[in-house]
Amino acid sequence: CAQLPRAGVLAGRRVLITAGPTAEPIDPVRYVTNRSSGKMGYALARAAWQAGADVTLVSGPVALDAPTGVRVVRVRTAEEMLQACRQPFDECDLAFFCAAVADKRPAAPAGRKLKKGADDAALERIELVDNPDILATLAAGKGSRVVVGFAAETDDVVDNARAKLERKGADLIAANYVGAGGAFGSDENLVVLLSAQGTSELPYGSKDDVAAAIVRAAADMLG
Ligand code: CTP
Ligand code: CA
Repeated sequence: CAQLPRAGVLAGRRVLITAGPTAEPIDPVRYVTNRSSGKMGYALARAAWQAGADVTLVSGPVALDAPTGVRVVRVRTAEEMLQACRQPFDECDLAFFCAAVADKRPAAPAGRKLKKGADDAALERIELVDNPDILATLAAGKGSRVVVGFAAETDDVVDNARAKLERKGADLIAANYVGAGGAFGSDENLVVLLSAQGTSELPYGSKDDVAAAIVRAAADMLG
């Protein structure tokens, strides 16, 4: 029964997870997005639920089923994702920001479909503006919550990830290499964990194994 407390390192804990890409409209049929299958975030949601947590998964558009037991909130844009995260973040003990949020969005999405030719001026130069940084915004008021970020990098993986740990105010960053042969869309992941305590490489494995290891590392940081 879902109401009974479940055993595990996150029993009695509330967990927020963001997953998938965001999609930022250009017009009703076109959008700007990031490459993300959502598999890592959904694997984290399963792992956190299996570890006993009450899990809210705020998900951008992905072709994945809701994991058993997990509350899924579906959103499209970064601004919607931030709004959907506010209350679950307030109520959580631990948050994983796994979403591949579009850094920029079209400044003035058109309300109607833009047409080739007639609307070429609008289609050929799309002005972009900054999206909110969901992790940095929420981590600024994190209090005793444990905040985990992700860094998908093609170059200087560890240096870039350590800069993000400091810049964003996260407690832990899970960094992975996404160059040729890297993680996108695949079921495997090579991940390095970085915190103020140091850097450690997780054993290469399936996204489910990696998710379980990240959940254990984050649970160890809870007071
Ligand atoms: N993130 C977020 N909101 C954003 C951008 C990123 O919450 N608008 C989170 C991601 O979910 C991830 C972490 O921040 O946990 C790092 O995201 P990443 O795109 O690697 O970092 P950026 O700071 O956007 O830097 P860049 O894309 O230039 O590498
Ligand atoms: Ca980014």
